Amino acid sequence: MLIVANWKAYIEDFEKAKKLFAISKKLMRTIDCNIVLAPPAPLLGALAFRNKSKIAFAAQDVSATTGGAETGEATVQAFATVGATYAIIGHSERRAVGDTDAIVAKKLAHALTQGLTPILCIGESEHDDEGRYLAVVREELTRAIEPLAPKERTEIIIAYEPLWAIGKNASAAIKTNDLTEMVLYIRKILAELLPGKSSAHSLVLYGGSVESGNIRALAATSGVDGFLVGHESVDPHAFTQLVKQLDQHQIRFDAGRA
Ligand code: PGA
Repeated sequence: MLIVANWKAYIEDFEKAKKLFAISKKLMRTIDCNIVLAPPAPLLGALAFRNKSKIAFAAQDVSATTGGAETGEATVQAFATVGATYAIIGHSERRAVGDTDAIVAKKLAHALTQGLTPILCIGESEHDDEGRYLAVVREELTRAIEPLAPKERTEIIIAYEPLWAIGKNASAAIKTNDLTEMVLYIRKILAELLPGKSSAHSLVLYGGSVESGNIRALAATSGVDGFLVGHESVDPHAFTQLVKQLDQHQIRFDAGRA
């Protein structure tokens, strides 16, 4: 299981950042999972530079440009040079301030050329009864991936993050059955867009009010490969509890009972 801890702008203090990093290292030594931390850019630089641990780092966003006279931009190459190996791209909170599908596609291409693994966020704003959300997801995914070469398409991690579930609590998160359906649907679209049978290896994550109280049920039967966790990833105790829920033996046990 892959856990991406999206710290958003919740963490502004280096001491807190160091504490969460230390806890994450300890968790990875004891639980069979991979943790990727996505701190705000300056904190990412401070933590990821010369990082020797198994924890990986993700940029929360990257510039659509490749450098030059672009005040305020943080390019993919700048993230890569301090040790980031992933980049979250197309998060709804970035789309809300101007990232169009075309910009998202450009950022994906930049990330891939610099060797960062993109975590592409897609998701509808409303889970309507008529199923229009399915078309939204298909469109976002297709528009982001289609401009890329077939081989590049295979390197992208998908994070399904319905906007209506983000930043709330476990009761507002997606229901397991709906997530199962969506993971299958995303895999079907990937099978159309990716060469050969390569989509079988694509990772599909879920994000949106993932907490220690719902992560195990969501993991057990839905077919997701991991989670993008926001608010629950910045509280040391809550994050520890959440990751502990992913103890593989327990998940297999739960899935067996379902
Ligand atoms: P949340 O955020 O866990 O706070 O809902 C998830 C995300 O936006 O990545």
